[in-house]
Amino acid sequence: MADTIEHRCDLLVIGSGAAGLSLALKMAEHCNVIVLSKSDINEGSTRYAQGGIAAVFDDDDSIESHIADTLNAGAGICDENVVRYTAENAKRSMQWLISRGVPFDQEQDEHGNPRFHLTREGGHSHRRILHAADATGEAVQSTLSDNVTQHPNIHIFERYNAIDLIKANKSDQRCIGAYVWNRKKTRVEIIRARFVTLATGGASKVYQYTSNPDVSSGDGIAMAWRAGCRIANMEFNQFHPTCLYHPDAGNFLISEALRGEGAFLCHADGTPFMHKFDERGDLAPRDIVARAIDFEMKRLGADCMYLDISHKPTDFIVKHFPNIYRKCRSLGIDITRQPIPVVPAAHYSCGGVMTDLNAKTNLENVYAIGEVAYTGLHGANRMASNSLLECVVFAHACANHILAHFDEPHSQCTIQPWDESRVIDSDEEVIIQHNWHELRLFMWDYVGIVRSDKRLERAMRRINLLKQEIDEYYSNFKVSNNMLELRNLVCIAQLIVTCAMMRKESRGLHYNLDYPNLLENAGPSIIQKPLK
Ligand code: FAD
Ligand code: SIN
Repeated sequence: MADTIEHRCDLLVIGSGAAGLSLALKMAEHCNVIVLSKSDINEGSTRYAQGGIAAVFDDDDSIESHIADTLNAGAGICDENVVRYTAENAKRSMQWLISRGVPFDQEQDEHGNPRFHLTREGGHSHRRILHAADATGEAVQSTLSDNVTQHPNIHIFERYNAIDLIKANKSDQRCIGAYVWNRKKTRVEIIRARFVTLATGGASKVYQYTSNPDVSSGDGIAMAWRAGCRIANMEFNQFHPTCLYHPDAGNFLISEALRGEGAFLCHADGTPFMHKFDERGDLAPRDIVARAIDFEMKRLGADCMYLDISHKPTDFIVKHFPNIYRKCRSLGIDITRQPIPVVPAAHYSCGGVMTDLNAKTNLENVYAIGEVAYTGLHGANRMASNSLLECVVFAHACANHILAHFDEPHSQCTIQPWDESRVIDSDEEVIIQHNWHELRLFMWDYVGIVRSDKRLERAMRRINLLKQEIDEYYSNFKVSNNMLELRNLVCIAQLIVTCAMMRKESRGLHYNLDYPNLLENAGPSIIQKPLK
């Protein structure tokens, strides 16, 4: 067996979005950090975020109101302590981002003094969203990555896929690093670390239609599951109501902030419909709006619904939504004069790797932050703009916990080299391609916005078959990006369907035709693989 290259660091951060980079910056003052990124440092959901970040900045708003709105959107199963912790730490976390240089939009108050412009989104009862026009994620991502790339204690490994976590040995289950695949050199390497934090983002790529970039394949959740971490609430995958419906649009989102500023959903003939579904109309929480659009599309046999903001002044639209205006214009849609064709698409994983208030998982030395984590904040449905907030709040909580335990003894045991002696180059890429498409399509059709027991059972039968085929493929052939992602996606699909089958009710984002009602007593769906 050939030697495997081994890198060493104090902290390995897997993922370079808002969560991973915030943690790296905090920790680099104290130790050396490796940040792993599957693509280039800036590619991930963070960069595409549009609407903004929720935090109480307005004197007329209150932390209690932010808490109440989050609990309400979460449909009764948020962890109230976590919601309170997040809302209370929101302003401080945003001030940290501002101190790092994030240029949130400002306006003048009635005395001519500068203050942050706050916008509004579904589920929020006040204006409390800090934003940088309609490209907040780009502002956060580029500011953090500029900070990180200048830091001497942070080493960025781009185009590296984490494959699996490494544990000390059978009797000592603590994590001591990860096997990673160097995509440039096409070889597996080892990173040994005293602490490992998963910051790999979400898993929405398991669905055929998604607002997410390609890297969102749930790798961190799948790795954590294989290593024995507790996973929770995977049935709650959020579908964003309004993604642009156009053959050349890619995954382009039309921010909820448009509805916050007065846009309304309507049929092709301009008739509004959201008031039929919820008294909050177009500003109802996302699960309700996505289901209403799905219902209307199916009822009318329509390919899409429409979002209209053309009644607002042109200057206002172009100033607040320059990115969306430009993108739509490039596709021949003038949003100042005509409604925008929209459809729902998979957007956000509310479930994930279960952590406590310190971002710590049940596996020693392993933390999870950002979209990969289930902290309890979102319950059965995430409220808009609470995600980037969670990334920063829990990056700081994670840093504090690691620092408090930094000097504890750690394992020095040797790590098994990666064994490639029995694998060969793949000669059947078509298997991977085919399984990719099949998986994402039946997840969309059977495990999407509306589910039933029969659909879930059908999906599970197919998942079991695919899993067998992919596991076999994985043990026979050298790794590739598509193979690693597919191995993780099939695991994600299994976790989603398992949690969905456990839930005998409809709540928040999980709607099952066979159990249309709410149970009186319900909690999170928690699962864990038996440790070997
Ligand atoms: P990401 O930013 O997704 O980063 C994940 C990182 O992990 C990437 O660097 C990736 O390369 C890396 N990675 C993944 N797997 C591996 C692996 N195996 N090995 C190595 N690296 C790996 N939320 C809000 O709060 N407000 C918004 O306005 C908002 N708008 C959104 C708009 C869009 C279009 C989308 C898609 C999401 C939006 N969200 C918004 C959600 C929010 O952007 C994400 O939840 C958040 O950015 C996740 O950040 P993260 O750091 O956890 O992960
Ligand atoms: C949006 O701008 O609509 C996305 C906001 C979010 O996902 O939080």
